[in-house]
Amino acid sequence: VSAGSKIPISLEINGSQRTLEVEPGLLLVDALRERCGLNGTRVGCLTGDCGACTVLVDGETRRSCLILAASMSGRTVTTIEGLAPAGSLTAVQRAFCSEHGFQCGYCTAGMVLAIEELLAREKSPSAARVREAIAGNLCRCTGYDSIVAAALAAASGADA
Ligand code: FES
Ligand code: FES
Repeated sequence: VSAGSKIPISLEINGSQRTLEVEPGLLLVDALRERCGLNGTRVGCLTGDCGACTVLVDGETRRSCLILAASMSGRTVTTIEGLAPAGSLTAVQRAFCSEHGFQCGYCTAGMVLAIEELLAREKSPSAARVREAIAGNLCRCTGYDSIVAAALAAASGADA
């Protein structure tokens, strides 16, 4: 690839097939936010340490600040905008509201996606398993207890 040339990629984003032309160095997080208008994915540290940029790639949590968009051809990416149909929320999202799982909200998209991934694998995780699942997601506001409570409430169907 010569300098300045773009790479065509075709991938599924939130259930829609998309074709993008991306610079070789474009980060997935920037492709999502700037090319696709999906601003729910946050930019925090850009070094893989905070989890704010978490998305699901083929159903698994990934740091979108550590992934080149050019490597995403043929993959399936889910962002916070794609978890539920427009105008509705998942059980995890509803539980974040009822359990006060967020304050400033900067970490929330990443937290929700990490918990969605966990609950897709384990229907009734313990609090310890929830804490393990969100260990790579930093929150400056909540002290984490309300986030764990939200995950457990969603798992128990308390908010269904
Ligand atoms: S912005 Fe990607 S981990 Fe912090
Ligand atoms: S709610 Fe503010 S960083 Fe988590």
